Amino acid sequence: MLFLGIRPPILNGPMHPRPLVALLDGRDCTVEMPILKDVATVAFCDAQSTQEIHEKVLNEAVAALLYHTITLSRDDLEKFKGLRVIVRIGSGFDNVDIKAAAELGIAVCNVPAASVEETADTSLCLILNLYRRVTWLHQALREGTRASSVEQIREVASGAARIRGETLGIIGLGRVGQAVALRAKAFGFGVIFYDPYLPDGVERSLGLQRMATLQDLLIHSDCVSLHCSLNEHNHHLINDFTIKQMRQGAFLVNTSRGGLVDEKALAQALKEARIRGAALDVHETEPFRYRQPSEELREQGLPDGGVPVAQHGGRHRSPRAQRSRLQVRECDVPA
Ligand SMILES: NC(=O)c1ccc[n+]([C@@H]2O[C@H](COP(=O)([O-])OP(=O)(O)OC[C@H]3O[C@@H](n4cnc5c(N)ncnc54)[C@H](O)[C@@H]3O)[C@@H](O)[C@H]2O)c1
Repeated sequence: MLFLGIRPPILNGPMHPRPLVALLDGRDCTVEMPILKDVATVAFCDAQSTQEIHEKVLNEAVAALLYHTITLSRDDLEKFKGLRVIVRIGSGFDNVDIKAAAELGIAVCNVPAASVEETADTSLCLILNLYRRVTWLHQALREGTRASSVEQIREVASGAARIRGETLGIIGLGRVGQAVALRAKAFGFGVIFYDPYLPDGVERSLGLQRMATLQDLLIHSDCVSLHCSLNEHNHHLINDFTIKQMRQGAFLVNTSRGGLVDEKALAQALKEARIRGAALDVHETEPFRYRQPSEELREQGLPDGGVPVAQHGGRHRSPRAQRSRLQVRECDVPA
């Protein structure tokens, strides 16, 4: 496949018969390695930033693979002298400056379908947990709370809510958002969504109710679940102002990207019980240090009471499901 704007051949000689491919962050290359091993040399950088990447890789790598734990800004991209293609092993590409990459002639690919079902399943787990309070009940049992009488059980489970008839509001009805909507309907949720980028009529094909504005969605939802991609327009989409538009005592779930939620504003809303509970699979600062007191949510004393936290649960797949990464051969080129 030929992409316009790709960097021209490296000037100081023909391309190396075994081009250098670098996995920038993480060490899991099990799916890609069997394909690459005969045609390329693979370097494992295990880096958090380009400062940690060896000069040889910066000078010679023609392809870079990366997960979500390293960011490639324009300055970072300029350090790579021969890079032609970046492959994000996963769905989002918000950690790559795709505009700069396009200007530098570097194609950017991702694997959008890689973990749609797992992320949707994780989202439902978190939503159901907020309603049925499994985490808190489990915690109470571990702490030795005995609940034998009806009254005791009721007290331990206090706050557990009925799902049928509740309204789930989905922000971003893409692949994951649609998969969440279909699952949530089976549990009895009425599902509404807000996604200004989708064509008219999609609500009819999926049997959902479309909201014209974010404010409409927030006002009408008992539980808000975020499934939009993070881009330059929606950083802190959920902030103090938009939280105040949510129903008193609503739930918030984020399995999308941490930057969509202003965690300070969320912590304050949880403290004041304007938000009844939140479940976060992604965080503004990652990796999330649950036990570190400096963490804003922790400072407010909230994770134990109101915020089950996880870490990119949607990313974890069985080895069989990981084969979907092979779609990278038919990569999407966003820029
Ligand atoms: N937690 C995890 O492990 C995990 C795993 C996979 C994907 N994700 C994240 O989940 C998100 C959704 O993934 P996807 O594959 O469904 O993406 P997608 O591109 O298929 O869908 C995103 C949708 O969001 C919509 N959107 C963008 N900005 C919006 C806004 N401001 N308001 C409302 N809608 C908006 C788009 O129109 C699109 O329909 C991405 O951010 C992705 O990175 C997380």
